[in-house]
Amino acid sequence: MKELNIQIAIKIYDLEELSESDRELLGAACEATNRSYAPYSHFSVGAAARLASGAIVTGSNQENAAYPSGLCAERTTLFYANSQYPDQAVETLAIAARNERGEFLEDPIPPCGACRQVMLETEKRFNRPMRILLYGRKGIYELKSVGALLPLSFDASAME
Ligand code: THU
Repeated sequence: MKELNIQIAIKIYDLEELSESDRELLGAACEATNRSYAPYSHFSVGAAARLASGAIVTGSNQENAAYPSGLCAERTTLFYANSQYPDQAVETLAIAARNERGEFLEDPIPPCGACRQVMLETEKRFNRPMRILLYGRKGIYELKSVGALLPLSFDASAME
C-alpha cells in the first residue's frame, strides 16, 4: 500500500495587509454582489477577475426559475472575461458573498466543484497560475493557483 498526501497552502490576510490592487479587486467583487440575481437562494455572490492587462471584469450569480439553468458568479465572470478578452490571462480572481440578510460572510465561501473545474480550464488555457482571493469578514484567503482548490484534477493532459 502506498499513500499519496497532497498538501495545499492557504494564506489568510487582513484587508490592510493586501496590496492596493488586491483591495481594489476585492472591492469590485463585493460590489458585484449588488448585481446578483438571486430571488430563489437569496445568496448573492460576486466575482472580479484581474486580467493580465490590469483591467477588472466582474460578474455575479444569475439564477433561474428552472434552477439548474442558473449560473454561479465565478463561471459568469470567467466566461465573460474569456469571451470578451480571449487573449488575456486571468491573473487573480476575487470572490465575495452576502447572505439573505445582506451581510458579507465571516468566513469565505469556497467555490463549488463545477466552478473549480472551469477555473482550472482558464488557468491551463493561458498556462499561467490564477491566484484566488476569497473574501471573508474575518480574513481573506489567498490561494496561489487553482491547483490548490482542485488537487488531483482532470484536464486535457489526461487525454494525451
Ligand atoms: N453560488 C455561486 O455563485 N458561487 C459558488 O461558488 C457557490 C454558489 C451561487 C449559486 C446560487 O445562485 C447560490 O449561490 C446558492 O447556491
